[in-house]
Amino acid sequence: MSKLALFGGIPVRTKPFPEWPRLTSELGESVLKTLQNENWGVGSDAISRFEDAFALFHDAKYCISTSSGTTALWVALKAAGIKVGDEVIIPAYTFIATASAVLMANAVPVFVDIDEKTLNIDSDLIEATITNKTKAIMPVHIAGNPANMDKICAIGKQYGIAIVEDAAQAHGAEWKGKKVGAIGKGGIFSFQTSKNMSAGEGGAIITNDDDFKEACFSYHNCGRVSGGEWYEHQHLGGNFRLNALAASMLIPQLDSIGADMDLRDKNKKFLDDVLGEIDGIELVGSYEQTTRSAQHLYIVKYKKEAFNGIHRDVFFKAMQAEGVYTYAGYSPLYREKLFVTDPDEYPWLKDQDYASLSLPVTERICDDESVWLQQRYLLGNDEDSQDIIDAFKKVTNALKNEPELFR
Ligand SMILES: Cc1ncc(COP(=O)(O)O)c(C=O)c1O
Repeated sequence: MSKLALFGGIPVRTKPFPEWPRLTSELGESVLKTLQNENWGVGSDAISRFEDAFALFHDAKYCISTSSGTTALWVALKAAGIKVGDEVIIPAYTFIATASAVLMANAVPVFVDIDEKTLNIDSDLIEATITNKTKAIMPVHIAGNPANMDKICAIGKQYGIAIVEDAAQAHGAEWKGKKVGAIGKGGIFSFQTSKNMSAGEGGAIITNDDDFKEACFSYHNCGRVSGGEWYEHQHLGGNFRLNALAASMLIPQLDSIGADMDLRDKNKKFLDDVLGEIDGIELVGSYEQTTRSAQHLYIVKYKKEAFNGIHRDVFFKAMQAEGVYTYAGYSPLYREKLFVTDPDEYPWLKDQDYASLSLPVTERICDDESVWLQQRYLLGNDEDSQDIIDAFKKVTNALKNEPELFR
């Protein structure tokens, strides 16, 4: 067996993997064109061109672009009618913004555990958390892999609760052949640096609902209303608009995202076919109605029982030494310090006891099992994917057959 790089052996990989984000000539030209010919901010033609193109790409009637995914979430929650003390059901396994946007809307995040098959909110656990204060369910299409929208929308319909999709990671993902984001009332996307479409920062809301779109327009644009005066403010909104240069960076990416998605799909399958055969490495699945995942992250589960009980952190160190950067990702959100709130600052949370919450699947995935690779690792060639596979095989072999090395 070849010696692990962790113990002085030769690493599997010494070259870098593909970089992200990626500067293309189209992107540079598009930004320059806006700089030379158009407004750089509000009213820019580049912004409306992007919004129209993104709505079309995502099978939606409307798109309102925003300064980030976080501001898009806040705007969408306000537009969905969320008021102080209302409850919003979210998964505990997601980026902090899903929860912090709820807090910023003066509402209460209600955490639900995840389905271990897909790592998405467990739709069978949602109903038990519904109260007369529940005003929205916000599924997150985690890693770009759609949540169970059939079940979630059915619950929303039965109880009269709005469904707002956090599709921050799910550009191009599809549920039953329809792009995600506007399956419920509306949904949001992020264009922050790591995302599959990137403008450094940026976000968008999409919807098919005219009233919701008007409300989003107002909350993201200082409370103005379409057709109203510049100095007329009907809601407590803010300047959460997208910069025209960011819009210009995104427009050409709508032409390249299809090829990127095909490549990620191909490489994911290449990895799945081999890694799924390693005893102790489990693949993350999709619901049968998922017709496309956006593969924003490549996640597998590490089962320490198959590796002599050796903790995942040891696996990470050995993989990093081999030149393949895998890492754990999220912690259960309710454990974050910010949920120990000061009742003077957050009076509507005074009865919440997040510290006592314990959601077993989320905790097992976060504490012991999740292994993440960034999406850029899926943008290489077969040789790149083979290096990932070789590193997994080399490290898992050693953990299985030479456990004494790690003691
Ligand atoms: C699931 C999820 N929701 C919301 C956001 C917030 O997006 P942004 O970073 O653009 O504010 C992110 C981005 O990291 C995310 O991954």
